[in-house]
This record gives sequence, structure tokens and C-alpha cells, in this order.
Amino acid sequence: MTKHTPNLKAAKITGGVASKLSHDSAHKHVSGTAIYIDDVPEPAGTLHLGLGLSTVAHGRIKSMDLSAVRAAPGVIDVLTAKDIPGENDVSPSGMHDDPILADGEVLFHGQPVFVVLASTRAEARSAARLAKIDYEELPPIIDIYDLDVETARQVTTPMVLKRGDAAKALASAPHRIKGRMELGGQDHFYLEGQVSLAVPGEDDEVTVHCSTQGPTETQHMIAHALGVPNHAVTVEVRRMGGGFGGKETQANQTAVLAAIAAKKHNRAVKLRLDRDEDMTATGKRHNFAIDYDVGFDDEGRILGIDYTYALRCGFSADLSGPVGDRALFHCDNTYFYPAVNARSAPLFTNTVSNTAFRGFGGPQGMVGAERVIDEIAFAVGKDPLDIRKLNFYDPMDKRAGRDVTPYHQKVEDCIIQRIVAELEESCDYAGRRREIAAFNANSRFIKRGIALTPVKFGISFTRTDSNQAGALVHVYTDGSVHMNHGGTEMGQGLHMKVAQVVAEEFQIDIERVKITATTTGKVPNTSPTAASSGADLNGMAAQNAARQIKDRLIDFAAETHQVPKDQVVFLPNRVRVGNQEISFNELVLQAYTARVQLSAAGFYKTPKIHWDRAKGMGHAFYYFAYGAACSEVSIDTLTGEYVVERTDILHDAGRSLNPAIDLGQVEGGFIQGMGWLTTEELWWDGKGRLRTHAPSTYKIPLASDRPKIFNVALTDWSEAYEPTVHRSKAVGEPPLPLGLSVLHALADAVASVADHKVCPRLDAPATPERVLMAVERMKKVAAK
Ligand code: MTE
Ligand code: MOS
Repeated sequence: MTKHTPNLKAAKITGGVASKLSHDSAHKHVSGTAIYIDDVPEPAGTLHLGLGLSTVAHGRIKSMDLSAVRAAPGVIDVLTAKDIPGENDVSPSGMHDDPILADGEVLFHGQPVFVVLASTRAEARSAARLAKIDYEELPPIIDIYDLDVETARQVTTPMVLKRGDAAKALASAPHRIKGRMELGGQDHFYLEGQVSLAVPGEDDEVTVHCSTQGPTETQHMIAHALGVPNHAVTVEVRRMGGGFGGKETQANQTAVLAAIAAKKHNRAVKLRLDRDEDMTATGKRHNFAIDYDVGFDDEGRILGIDYTYALRCGFSADLSGPVGDRALFHCDNTYFYPAVNARSAPLFTNTVSNTAFRGFGGPQGMVGAERVIDEIAFAVGKDPLDIRKLNFYDPMDKRAGRDVTPYHQKVEDCIIQRIVAELEESCDYAGRRREIAAFNANSRFIKRGIALTPVKFGISFTRTDSNQAGALVHVYTDGSVHMNHGGTEMGQGLHMKVAQVVAEEFQIDIERVKITATTTGKVPNTSPTAASSGADLNGMAAQNAARQIKDRLIDFAAETHQVPKDQVVFLPNRVRVGNQEISFNELVLQAYTARVQLSAAGFYKTPKIHWDRAKGMGHAFYYFAYGAACSEVSIDTLTGEYVVERTDILHDAGRSLNPAIDLGQVEGGFIQGMGWLTTEELWWDGKGRLRTHAPSTYKIPLASDRPKIFNVALTDWSEAYEPTVHRSKAVGEPPLPLGLSVLHALADAVASVADHKVCPRLDAPATPERVLMAVERMKKVAAK
């Protein structure tokens, strides 16, 4: 970038808070100049790893003959569990159930059993196929749908949320419906797969460039596996080519393997997974079986509800405990339950260990709530939107207490009524509902459907200690600023937003603020960038660091110019001291000369939150983010194929730090949620082999699948109820469940086949096959 000349007369800085700036690396992303791990120049003599994966879903290793692997061209070494110097574990939950390499027993098809180190990646990968491993095969548990949650093995402790007497409310309710919804998982399908480059240093040191959302955890995992202190390991990440939760824990194994090989051979080592391996051997979004039992009155108001959320965890705990918890935290979505009993069942299966995925179980929780709304609507013969509105949380309602969640936290900042009302109006829901009815009456094979669905998403890690962040800010003597913080960039624009906060604080143009790579050596003990809290936490920490330096500059200027402190005012690119103005650069240089420290470490921890999991009570979330989407679809009742005709979205990002980036998050989140609930289908066969492990068989939404008309807006009136960074709200995950509007619009179109008489109970993903089968069910109902 060219040298920046600050405008000393400007009325406003360029790129402060609330500016609609594009992503700092947008031009580099699209021109191929952004540096990802595989673009980092390789040190001379870099070696490459290839994975050896298990070929059975469950078995004991009777013998392992790796001689052909060792003899293959280019092979330098073959590493197994016994080559791990420290602990053979990358379990993030502390349950010690996540071996780096299988030892004696394999628990899923595709589990890494050994790694090959070779001169080239191609040699390592082809040599890995020459292993002869003899297994004693054991019966695997593949699916959860047939498991009994009372007796099935669980990977971690389930959670229960309870308020009121749900059993009593159900028993006395005028109407009651029981049902089950089956809900598929999702592959992250980040563009950059899992990859690490480990560069050995002297003594016990190693530096690892890793595509990870959690550099600190990756650092700790490497240290454990090598048996060295954390201080020996540095993990660095400039950016990920997408993470979506899939690199919160799943990046660790690759990093650890590269580091072990690098230290053993004192050579740089890279491990980059192939797409098929990445899809087979790393965890995904959990699929769920949701059992519901709801009692309601004649109008459709919910009186009591009982839920069981069973989730397929795979062979280890990983993050399944907190994912199941977050599903329960969102089993209410935007609805008040007078009496509720909800429990999770984190079930063991012999499949890859499922993990974080945008929304972290929250979207799965909401899917249950929205199915229940549909059930009630069909039962009482009303538009689902009316049932939604009837059951919204309402702090203003005369009947007191309609603002308490199943976890006993009050919804203090509820704006869902206003969002839904504005969207309903702007998208002309009522008018289009009539048009669609008229269209369907005259169209024999193509049927249309519409649905408007709300979202309420809780912001904070439910693990209290994760809600902290650090930052490091340096001001150099030319007035340029180096900004670093503990958050990671995965395309969501976090670095840009935090840089805007720093620019705003110093009142300098954004060009003066340098975005730098996240590294454990600069900001330690960080949380993974997750739970949508990146900007909330790191923005505050960076603001805190900038303020410390600013305060020192104010003290210095007040003292040297003999004016009171309140007469030192930061203006765009300059500072007014008493009745004279000097440039920011000038002040910085003067301060340096007078030996004022121009560097600071900032810190932030979220106030107010607490959570008692055993009791199921607390103030789990600092605040809530809201949104709503209305989608219209048309389905072909002869083939089950469908098109999203139009989607309108109104989403709440509080006082947005950057409305351009936030709008992108809303669009992307919606499309990703739509993909999850429609075309993205993970399919394991009876032997536990994932048969949808490449784009040939796993269909993410294409550009051509986006809604034909797509109106997306942020609320321009909302602001965070709590003093968040500039009253903005987190926006990374909350838009994903807006994709539910497509699933419900599809269900609406299907239901029209039987004149909306029965709930079509459309499960997800609603692939064309599923839609077609649902249409066939409706035709049978209509024929009766
Ligand atoms: N957006 C892009 N482009 N790429 C990503 O990988 N990850 C999502 C979301 N948006 C993701 C994304 C997930 S899972 C989370 S938790 C948040 O971004 C994390 O970033 P934030 O906390 O800075 O919003
Ligand atoms: Mo996001 S699933 O919290 O990384």
C-alpha cells in the first residue's frame, strides 16, 4: 500500500466505526494474493505428511504391517501412536478420548492410524495406501435414530432445562401433539481445508502456521503431545479460508502431527488434507433426533412442552457437551414456554466426532421449536405466522412472566415483535399469501409456499472463562499503528472491525492501522474465535489497549502544554491541545522523545454473565441478537425439485460496526443455513463409510441456488441493550437459522397438495427426494 498522508483538516476520519468498508483482504481474496498456509514459502527441505486412515468403523488392530509403506519412493519415516513423545490426545473437553493416532482400537471409518513422512505430498499420500492392517472387526453403532436414549452410551453428561411442571401442563392441556423430527448434519466445506506447517526451532521450540480458529488451544495441544511447556510452542494464523466452527478443535490434530514430525526430524513439515480426507476424517455439524410433546390451547398458545434432543456425537466428546447445551438454550427460539422440560442426549456412535458448526447447536434447537409451531398451526387451522406471534416472548405482556427462558434468564431486550412486524409489512406477507393460494389453485404440478421465521440467538460462550480477550497495540514513532488481538480471521471481517475500533479511538484514518497475524506469542491465553463473540471481545480488548496509550498521550500533552486534561481533544488525524492543534504524528513523536510508552496490552471480560449447568439456571447470555426471514419457494410435485423465488431478511446487528461486512455475514449465514436444511446431505453406509465425501455427492448451494429475489437489510434502529463495543451486536452465527424460512416454505408448498389439512412433517435436509416423498404422502391424505 502507498504511504498514507493524513488529512489534517478532515471533518471525519476514513474508516471509523460504522463505516461501510469492504473486507480488508477482499481484493486479495479474489485476486489470489491473500496468503493462506499453503502459500507460505516453504523452508528449504520441507517434508510432507500423508494420513493412513482406518478402513473399518470399529475394530481392534491385530497387526500392522507398514513395511511396504516404508519402502515406497520418497518415504522418510512412518509414525504411529508410539512415536508421540507426550500424550496421545487432542481432546478439548479434558476427557482424554481423542487420540491423535489410533492406538490398538479404531472407533470410526477414516480414523488416522499412522502418518507417512515423505519428500513430497504425492509420495506421502500414495505410500499411505500400501499399509496392511489386520483388524478384528467389532459391531459399530452408526446411526442415532434407532437408539434408545435411556440406555444408549453417551459421550458426556447430558443437560436438563426445567421450568414449571411440564408433565402437569401437558396432561391438562386441551390439545396435545407428540412427534419426532430428524435433522441432518453438515460438512463445513471451507474453501481451505485443514492444513499446518510446522517449523522446528532450537531446543524444544517449534512454530506452527495453522489454519485454526483457536491458536491458543492448538498451542496447548502441541505442547501436550510433544511433552514440552506451552512457552516452547508458537502458533500463528494470518487468516483461514473459512472456519465455520470446523477449525475450532479440528485443526489441532493436523498441527500436532506436523509438529511431532518436525521435531523428530528437525525439518519443516507440512500436512494439508485432501478434500475427501478432510470430509471423512474431521468432525461436522451434529445431526439430531428431536422428540417433542406439546400441549396447547384452542387458539394455539403453548401451555407446556417436553423435548428430547438426541445428537450424534461420534466416537468422542469433543465439543458435543456444549453443542447439546446450546441446542437446549435455543429450544425456545423466540417463544415463551409456560412450562418446559428439555433434555439433551449426547449419543456415542462409531462415526467421526462431531464438532462446532456456525450456531453451535443453536440452530438445531430452533428447528425443534419451529416444527412445533407448524404442528400447532396445522392442528388449529391457522397461518403458522399467527401462531408464532401468539407465542413470542413479550416483556410488555400484561400477563406477567412471559419473558422468562427455560434457563430462567429474562429476555430483557426483546425486539422480535418489531422486526417481524416490519418484515411482514415490507415483504407484503399477507398479499403474497393470497397470491400464492390463487396460484396454487390454478397450477397443477408447480406449487408455491411461503414462510416467515424468526430468530433469537444468545450471545456469550456458555463456558464463562472463555468470555475474555486480549489485544496488543503499538504506536510507532511515525504515528502508524500495529494492531494485534487474540481473535482469528476466517473471512468474517473481524480484523477490519477491530481495526475500525482502534482507528476510531485514536481518531486516525484506517490506513494508519496495520492488521497483523494472530499469534500466541503476542496475545496469550485466548479463547477460540467462536460463539460469534470475536468483535465483542477483541474489539473491547483493542479499545482498552488504545485507550491506555491515548490516556498517556493526553497526560503528556496536558503536562507539556500546561492545560487541563479535558482540553486535550482527539480530532481527525490531529489533537487539539488548549487552543492549538498538532497532528497525531507530531504528538506521538514528541511523546516518544519524552520517553512515554507507546505500546499497551488490552484486556476485556464480559460482565454480568454466570451459568450453573447442574441447576440449569443463570444469566447465560449477555444479550440476544434477533432477525427474521421470509422465503417463498416453488416446488415441482412431479420431481420434488424446487426453487427459492424470493427471500426478504431483516436482521439486527445492533449499531453495526461495519454494515457492509455485517450484511455479508447475514447473506452468507442465510445461504449456509439454507444449504444445511435443503441440499446438503451426509450419508454413511451400514459399515460407517461416509459416501458423500466430495462435492460430487455433497451439494452445497451454488450461486445459482440463491433466491431469485434477495432483499437483505439490517435494522437501522436497534442497538445493544448492554454496553457492548459501540453498542454493536454479534452477527457471525445468528443469521444462519434464517435458512429455516426455506424449509418451512417448502413444507408450506408441500402442505398445499392436501389443502393445508395436515402438517407435512418435512424432515431436513429437505432434498428433492424428501420433498417428493412428502408430496406423495400429502397426495394420499388428499385422496382420503
Ligand atoms: N464468515 C466467514 N466468511 N467465514 C467463516 O468461517 N465463521 C462463522 C461466522 N462467520 C465464518 C463466518 C462462525 S462459526 C463464527 S463463530 C463467527 O463467524 C466467528 O467470528 P466472529 O466472532 O468474529 O463473528
Ligand atoms: Mo462458530 S461454530 O462458534 O466457530
